[in-house]
Amino acid sequence: MKKMLWVVGLLILAAIAAWIIVFFPLAQPSSGGVAGSQDKKPVLIGFALGALREERWLTDENLFTARAEELGAVVIQENSNYDVPTQISQIENLISQGVKVIVVVAADSKAIAPAIEEAQNAGVRVIAYDRLIENSTIDGYVSFDNVKVGELQAEGVLAVVQKGNFAYIGGAPTDNNAFLVKRGSMAVLDPKIKSGDITLVLDQFTPNWDPAEAYKTMKSYLDTGKTVDAVIAANDGTAFGVIQALAEKRLAGKVPVSGQDAELSASQRIVWGTQTMTVYKPIKAEAVAAADLAVAMAGGRTPPATVTTNNGKMDVPSYLLAPTAVTKANMAGTVVKDGFHTYAEVYQISSTPSR
Ligand code: BGC
Repeated sequence: MKKMLWVVGLLILAAIAAWIIVFFPLAQPSSGGVAGSQDKKPVLIGFALGALREERWLTDENLFTARAEELGAVVIQENSNYDVPTQISQIENLISQGVKVIVVVAADSKAIAPAIEEAQNAGVRVIAYDRLIENSTIDGYVSFDNVKVGELQAEGVLAVVQKGNFAYIGGAPTDNNAFLVKRGSMAVLDPKIKSGDITLVLDQFTPNWDPAEAYKTMKSYLDTGKTVDAVIAANDGTAFGVIQALAEKRLAGKVPVSGQDAELSASQRIVWGTQTMTVYKPIKAEAVAAADLAVAMAGGRTPPATVTTNNGKMDVPSYLLAPTAVTKANMAGTVVKDGFHTYAEVYQISSTPSR
């Protein structure tokens, strides 16, 4: 009887030992198996938009997300609707959700600095998307050559009118791009302003790039009874506001107006004749470059940059793409050829541009 109890006891001990040997390793995270697979969580990347007002930003967001997901990452999207405290708290939330990289379209190039510092302190890398983030430590900047954008705008308008009263309707004073495009335009206009050929009769920024603000600026100038011979509008949204004000004085199509973004409505206005030109920036190239960079950085790699841009605190490795001027003459060979808009979309309009 005693012997039997011994045997049963030994058998129970052996069973316990076997159970431990078989199952215990599964409880170790590094051992593979069930818990090990939990380790292979996808890399999280944050994409924090300033706002979705212009047509382009949804495209940016979709193309960025598609590319990052193709590379195995998961993207958490945020949009602050131009509210700085909201963007700051969205960035903080992204940090606490464990993102490795945050790609930011700044609602305000300077005011979001505290959130950027928090990201850096948490070991999260930051990429400024399209708009430079100023006075902060950031890891990269993906955009277009925005000074070139401004040069193309001024040249586009000068191709039509070389002398007279010029108006400059700028972008948002909280967006570094507004200063870059203005610098480009002014570099082209300056010699003619100095020689007296051109008088700068209006020179104003547009809060949040709001077309309604651009309309008000143009309208209050025209309401004084003064004349304008050409308008450099910093993007297609502000161009829309300007053209509305011109139209009320029966001047639409008579005064050249520039733009930027090759929005569908602007492309329609160009073939219709109320807007002179726009600047086409192939967004897919920008979004893909940013997604590739973000995924590389999430994996601890930093692809080499060809240029740097000083943001007031450091020289930021920059990846800058080339913009293209678009007029009625090359619409089909640029925007349409690239599939940015179809021929039918751009040319279907006859009498009623949608904006
Ligand atoms: C972008 C433009 C855009 C504007 C308003 C700028 O930073 O470069 O493409 O039209 O913001 O959203």
